[in-house]
Amino acid sequence: MAQKGKIVILTGAGISAESGLGTFRDKDGLWTKYDLEDVATPQGFARNPQLVVDFYNARRANALDAAPNAAHTALSTLQKQYAGEVIIVTQNVDDLHERSGAEVIHMHGALMGALCNACDHRWPAPRVMGLTDPCPSCDAPATRPDVVWFGEIPYFMEDIAEHLQSCTLFAAIGTSGQVYPAAGFVQEAAYSGAETVELNLEASEMSPAFDRHIQGPASEVVPRWVESLLS
Ligand code: OAD
Repeated sequence: MAQKGKIVILTGAGISAESGLGTFRDKDGLWTKYDLEDVATPQGFARNPQLVVDFYNARRANALDAAPNAAHTALSTLQKQYAGEVIIVTQNVDDLHERSGAEVIHMHGALMGALCNACDHRWPAPRVMGLTDPCPSCDAPATRPDVVWFGEIPYFMEDIAEHLQSCTLFAAIGTSGQVYPAAGFVQEAAYSGAETVELNLEASEMSPAFDRHIQGPASEVVPRWVESLLS
């Protein structure tokens, strides 16, 4: 077990499930209620921008009303107390990692951000975003949520690749491993010699790629795993 090397942790919707935020592919998940093509692609936004903005406004309201759970808090503690570096990369667009005090790389963007489709300026999103909200920089009424949609390139990929190549331990928490490029991180890390561990409620698509599995709800298994790394 790596004691002082770099740890890279990838999180997914499962880590926020016990904070009351829906996952995507579980029973009753978001993609059982909405068509991904309608609300999470540039084409969907071009067809019906109001539907898309309403979808993210509702998710932003849910996230703002939610609180970090014991898994978020444990990762924040790990980041502060571990002798080596701890990099948290999340696919989640909620801000529960930050609110637990952690520093996090948002590879799929952030619900709390607004992006101007005209000039790429970014600013904090209001609780309820309006399609014709003017950009504070260029004044264009071309606002969109600063989230990465299917068909767009995830953020910070170069930085993430460098971290994966230099880590000694890679962990994936609460992700189904069905969406690339994040689903391929385990192989990238393993190729660079890292030990790999999956913490999830159940076996995932990517389970066979990991050295170890810890099964259970994130709020229980993550604090125990963090304790073992810090002891
Ligand atoms: P998914 O909904 O695909 O997977 C969530 C995973 O969390 C599943 O494997 C569940 O078994 C697990 N899970 C559920 N509750 C849990 C709990 N309490 N503790 C631990 N694990 C739990 O969500 P993601 O893998 O995050 O992308 O989805 C990846 C991407 O697909 C998202 O970022 C989003 C989505 O479409 C975009 O919108 C671009």
